[in-house]
Amino acid sequence: MPYPTERMRRLRRTGVLRGMIQETRLHPSSLIYPLFIQEGKGIVEEISSMPGISRFSPDRLQTEIAEIASLDLGSVLLFGIPENKDPTGSAALDEKGVVQQAIRTIKKEVPELVVITDVCLCEYTSHGHCGVLDGEEVDNDATLDLLARMAVSHVEAGADMVAPSDMMDGRVGAIRSALDEGGFIRIPIMSYAAKFASAFYGPFREAAESTPAFGDRRSYQMDPANHREAMREIELDIEEGADIVMVKPALAYLDVLREARELFLHPLAAYNVSGEYAMVKAAAARGWVDEERIVPEILMSIKRAGADLIITYFAKQMAEQLKDKG
Ligand code: PBG
Repeated sequence: MPYPTERMRRLRRTGVLRGMIQETRLHPSSLIYPLFIQEGKGIVEEISSMPGISRFSPDRLQTEIAEIASLDLGSVLLFGIPENKDPTGSAALDEKGVVQQAIRTIKKEVPELVVITDVCLCEYTSHGHCGVLDGEEVDNDATLDLLARMAVSHVEAGADMVAPSDMMDGRVGAIRSALDEGGFIRIPIMSYAAKFASAFYGPFREAAESTPAFGDRRSYQMDPANHREAMREIELDIEEGADIVMVKPALAYLDVLREARELFLHPLAAYNVSGEYAMVKAAAARGWVDEERIVPEILMSIKRAGADLIITYFAKQMAEQLKDKG
């Protein structure tokens, strides 16, 4: 029944009609807000390439956490920046480590906020790679035990979920066994399953001081050219026990998200990464794009592609915007 009988514009006439047929919706409960926690005291320091995002020391988190909770955001993802780095990233395992302290503070302030922790050694190693080295290579199997102990240490401090982002083979299985042996059978794993070696992580590496001192991450993170390999990565993480699987970055990989949505039944997360955030902020600051419109459009595109959850530095401002609209 083509035009003039069929008229697509009939259902676009008013805001209420448009709302009735809206297929994808944004809600704060599906947004995860990343937080950079820096070891020390009295630190609130804006990251120059990520306007609006700061690094906090554990003692300065209270106001930020109260704000997050008041916006109905359900969860945060913690990244730690320790004072001391060494070749094996040993500060990551310290029960008084920076993330462990932050977890305790947050759980005391707002116990119901879901605290997820990034499990990876790159912020803790002096060389900036995501695992321990054997010569100039990252030693996969030697890294697994450290990651598993790091995850257990976060959960002992009170973390509700762990998110391994290192891309070592077998780490989801190693973490699952370690958690189960420690009695933490109820703690879910959100794995960075299909994580690409991406230039979109640039601002994050400034924020987390985690740029590799030599080489790059292409021997463990994925080649941006590959989508079938991404599905194998996701499949393996699910077999090893991942509860939620992630595609990262988001915007240049929406096809990968869509394919994952169609092939797997697990909850799917997407990481709207630092470079994606910085590009919008830079263009908006020059008045080249309308930030209030472009942010929901971007987040909607990620949901429409198939993500249930979005990790995004826009979470707070998006939640504020959703609240104002009310
Ligand atoms: C690794 C990690 C990275 C990000 C999250 N976890 C950086 C990397 O792999 O180099 C990037 C997140 C972002 O760019 O927002 N621990």
